[in-house]
Amino acid sequence: MKSILNIVLLQNVYKKYPDSRDWVIKDISINIEEKKLIFICGPSGVGKSTLLHIIGLMDVANEGNVYFLGEKIMFDGKDLSKLRLENVGFMFQYHYLIENLTVKENILLPLWVKNKKVFFELNDYINQYLTILDIEKLLDRFPYELSGGEQQRVALARALVNNPKLVVADEPTGNLDQENAKKIVTLMKDFIEKFDMTFVVATHNLELTKFADKVINLKDGKIVSIQV
Ligand SMILES: Nc1ncnc2c1ncn2[C@@H]1O[C@H](COP(=O)(O)OP(=O)(O)OP(=O)(O)O)[C@@H](O)[C@H]1O
Ligand SMILES: [Mg+2]
Repeated sequence: MKSILNIVLLQNVYKKYPDSRDWVIKDISINIEEKKLIFICGPSGVGKSTLLHIIGLMDVANEGNVYFLGEKIMFDGKDLSKLRLENVGFMFQYHYLIENLTVKENILLPLWVKNKKVFFELNDYINQYLTILDIEKLLDRFPYELSGGEQQRVALARALVNNPKLVVADEPTGNLDQENAKKIVTLMKDFIEKFDMTFVVATHNLELTKFADKVINLKDGKIVSIQV
């Protein structure tokens, strides 16, 4: 089955790690439609990060079907890196920024990974992101010289730098106060409007779910409810 409107489609997906006794993700079927802000919620350990990694092509499922931009994903993990580098941006749960790189170097890192020959410079396209995120004056600083909110906005800039169709963000507001957390989510909504991106966000912060187009609630690796 192919669908262009779905960025990602999961059908009856199961996942376990080599040393896990039970399934970590059980029988999950969801569609991630383009230009949407989708939240994955639930208590610690229910499988939010695991599901996010499967959606963002950072890990593969064991059973079920995964389609990315209509293409069926093979679970041997082959050829995923190209599809991922061209289409997915990440904000990680931990290790947001690399401490001994400047803000500018951190932001440009995905381009360097994709093509080491790319000239290590900002262009107009990237500059417009920096302006929206209000971090254009911070480019020569190191991460320890930034506030938590600024660090998260830099991490968001890095996730956006290869113009991804899909951005997956794992607790992107985890260590922010409510005001800065709202700012990050509002910026995500801006990027959806302006650049036709899609965001999937794992979070504990239920206050933010009011901004979502869809909230997927997990318990013990299963979907317990979906609010649209
Ligand atoms: N690499 C791994 N190897 C083995 N087990 C893992 C691995 N990563 C996660 N797990 C286990 O899988 C389950 C789901 O973990 P996951 O990180 O997806 O949860 P989570 O919902 O993101 O939790 P949190 O809110 O604390 O980040 C947990 O029981 C965890 O111990
Ligand atoms: Mg997690």
